[in-house]
Amino acid sequence: MLRITNLNAFYDNVHALKDISLEIQKGEIVSLIGSNGAGKTSTLSCITGLVGIRSGTIHYKDKNITNVPAHKIVRLGISLSPEGREVFPGLTVAENLKLGRYSKKGNTTTAYERVYTLFPRLKERTLQIAGTLSGGEQQMLAIARALMSEPELLLLDEPSLGLAPNIVLMLFELIKEINKQGVTILLVEQNANLALSISNRAYVLETGRIALSGISQNLLHDENIKKAYLGSV
Ligand SMILES: Nc1ncnc2c1ncn2[C@@H]1O[C@H](COP(=O)(O)OP(=O)(O)OP(=O)(O)O)[C@@H](O)[C@H]1O
Ligand SMILES: [Mg+2]
Repeated sequence: MLRITNLNAFYDNVHALKDISLEIQKGEIVSLIGSNGAGKTSTLSCITGLVGIRSGTIHYKDKNITNVPAHKIVRLGISLSPEGREVFPGLTVAENLKLGRYSKKGNTTTAYERVYTLFPRLKERTLQIAGTLSGGEQQMLAIARALMSEPELLLLDEPSLGLAPNIVLMLFELIKEINKQGVTILLVEQNANLALSISNRAYVLETGRIALSGISQNLLHDENIKKAYLGSV
């Protein structure tokens, strides 16, 4: 569904992404893990057209989308839940959701129904100002807003960030459910254990390069990976 080939991206002279190649098949959850500054968000920004690509290509469903601008990417069926949630704090839950729909024409009722079924807590709070939601609820809203455009590929940037463990577990169950409903997912996480536990395959980024990749279950049980990335031996 998505194929990134030998991607290089820079911020001025900083070579942030070095020859990144990765693939996502339809229906998969693929995780992209790595520590602070590894290039995870930059990879998503290249896919969504927010950061310019110096060399290499990105194909989505066999269409070359390299350097296609952000608003067109959403229309093609790719949607991002950004790092740090970035909900509009002064707008209500319903208004935030509506903004996730801006690129899409047609009836919005089904889209609202779908996200409210997934996230009943948002349904109870449709008129609440987003800035007053708890961290977990804001994360739900960011994901729900991304789903409003009915994407085929959902990009999640660190959904677990700053949330209590029980909230994170609940959120990850919902991510699995979204995937079961037919949405392919690229999950960016610093929490490697968690990401590996729900994904089919994973790529590990280290200072802008893919250091290794494989089936998530295998990586989870690999002694070297445990030592280097999972904080245990
Ligand atoms: N707008 C920018 N201008 C200059 N450098 C940037 C910019 N955005 C990111 N970088 C640099 O690119 C590198 C990769 O950053 P990126 O945000 O992709 O990392 P990340 O893996 O998402 O990290 P984190 O886990 O902290 O979110 C870092 O060295 C960062 O300083
Ligand atoms: Mg990031």
